[in-house]
Amino acid sequence: MRRSSAPRVRAVIDTDPGIDDALALLYAWRSPDMDVRAVTTVAGNVPVDVATANVLRLAALARAGVPRVAAGAAKPLARALTTATHYHGEDGLGDVGGWPAIHAEPVGADAVDVLVAAAREHGPSLTLVALGPLTNVAMAVQRDAGAVRGVGRVVVMGGAVDVPGNVTPTAEFNVHVDPEAAAIVLDAGLPLDLVPLDATRQAVLDRARFETAAARSRAPGASQLVRCTARGFRVDHARGTHGMVLHDPLAVGAALDPTLIEWEPVKVTVSSAGETRRVRGRPNCRVARRVDADRFIMTFLERLLP
Ligand code: RIB
Ligand code: CA
Repeated sequence: MRRSSAPRVRAVIDTDPGIDDALALLYAWRSPDMDVRAVTTVAGNVPVDVATANVLRLAALARAGVPRVAAGAAKPLARALTTATHYHGEDGLGDVGGWPAIHAEPVGADAVDVLVAAAREHGPSLTLVALGPLTNVAMAVQRDAGAVRGVGRVVVMGGAVDVPGNVTPTAEFNVHVDPEAAAIVLDAGLPLDLVPLDATRQAVLDRARFETAAARSRAPGASQLVRCTARGFRVDHARGTHGMVLHDPLAVGAALDPTLIEWEPVKVTVSSAGETRRVRGRPNCRVARRVDADRFIMTFLERLLP
């Protein structure tokens, strides 16, 4: 648990919800040491309009107030969109229905406007957390690289550095969807903290532990979270994982408390096929290597399901 004296992390979260994105968003909204200034959406797991509706749906479920939500890129920079509805469901949240009505609207500005404005306004006091394909982040770099370079941290869930991918043998989904955007982000000189599959596969949520915590929780939406995550547990279990891999929640955890992770400065490159690999040369990011998974999952559950 982060010490209460530590400053709050001022964050903008870019996301493509997505079952694990949903858990990451509620974890962030329910973390007293994170101030989520805005949520921007990007096409990835689902089309961007579905992702945007899902953020508003999740905020209503969590009674997290009305977050500032800005819709972003509807497709990758230079190729057609490949979604992951086979994992997340057609609606991106497990196809279970039963969600509260949405009463809020996204803001008029688009995601890239919001990302660039936040970077210009907050500079080193801003942490940008990217949980989906990097299309919006890359477009923000193209619009004002200096502003994005000037933020405190850019924490990205993506890539597979020394481990196999989850879309192809060598490519992770977020990078595979938009490798051109990933290349721009990796080459932009950002204060980049990469949380790849190398790390996220160490953060596996046990289904029984999750469902027990949800049953005991007074938090709004606990039972709906159990319903919507069931598909994710089923698919991950069918892939041989003993629970659900907390890809995006770990990125939020790393943004909240970098000490959860052992980091390694690495130069990472990305191929047009979405393969991320370490190469010799000046590091362009820190790569999350080892995770204090017990401490992360304990804190994650305490905050998600109080
Ligand atoms: O490879 C895992 C990543 O792809 C996660 O962000 C998940 O939500 C999907 O977008
Ligand atoms: Ca995601």
